Amino acid sequence: MSAILSITDVSKTFHNETSSTHVLSRLNLTVNEGDFVTVIGPSGCGKSTLLKLIAGLDTDYTGAVNIEGKKVERPSQDKGFIFQEHRLFPWLNVEGNIAADLPLRKPEVRKRVDELIRLVKLEGFEKAYPRQLSGGMSQRVAIARALLRNPKVLLLDEPFGALDAFTRAHLQDALLDIWQTNRTTMVLVTHDIDEAVFLSNRVIVMDARPGRIKAVIPVDLPYPRRRTGTAFQDIRTHLLRSLEHHESEEPSYTI
Ligand SMILES: Nc1ncnc2c1ncn2[C@@H]1O[C@H](COP(=O)(O)OP(=O)(O)O)[C@@H](O)[C@H]1O
Ligand SMILES: [Mg+2]
Repeated sequence: MSAILSITDVSKTFHNETSSTHVLSRLNLTVNEGDFVTVIGPSGCGKSTLLKLIAGLDTDYTGAVNIEGKKVERPSQDKGFIFQEHRLFPWLNVEGNIAADLPLRKPEVRKRVDELIRLVKLEGFEKAYPRQLSGGMSQRVAIARALLRNPKVLLLDEPFGALDAFTRAHLQDALLDIWQTNRTTMVLVTHDIDEAVFLSNRVIVMDARPGRIKAVIPVDLPYPRRRTGTAFQDIRTHLLRSLEHHESEEPSYTI
């Protein structure tokens, strides 16, 4: 397995006129091609900040963020980003939103859009507008739009956080399906422990003030996972404990 994303000694401080906030402290993380990594940690520990650095939306930090060995300098379509709210264009229908700036009249774009509509299970809704869609459907459109750009890595910031539990479970299944079909490398931020254990092969547990990695927990369970299984529950408990555990000294991690 080769590393697609590497984060080396990354620290980040926000400065304003009166104060500065040390948000991320010396993060080190390697994500291999095809990995499904989740990031979990208390509110304000810097999860969204970290994703923005990986996405190239913020380059004001120390340390290095590399994708395929190249420093991330700016946002680009090879780094897909899914936000908690879907950010679709209200004036475009589903297929228009997926294609966005790519011409749907081009046969290769058309073909791929149709494939993605099937992959995210939105057949029959091609012509629907965002206002006619549920939150879960809208998120699937956003995911299809990102996948059309063949991202090297898909970054998801609490993408299902605003959805009800039933829809969330459906979308978790859909995302797993997408990951297994496309093998897109995923980095997903969540505050849902079950979601982390259900989806990922590695869970990054962060601590706050300053945000840092305090544990990396592998999830070596075959897919699809049974949420009620004993092994699932054991890892869940382990994860809960590591979230609750506070360390005073700075931990070191080997991944
Ligand atoms: N633009 C900003 N200016 C100053 N502080 C910020 C800014 N964005 C985020 N922060 C602070 O950085 C910390 C981490 O924020 P964030 O990455 O959004 O956390 P999380 O996503 O884990 O909840 C918080 O204390 C937040 O207040
Ligand atoms: Mg956040």
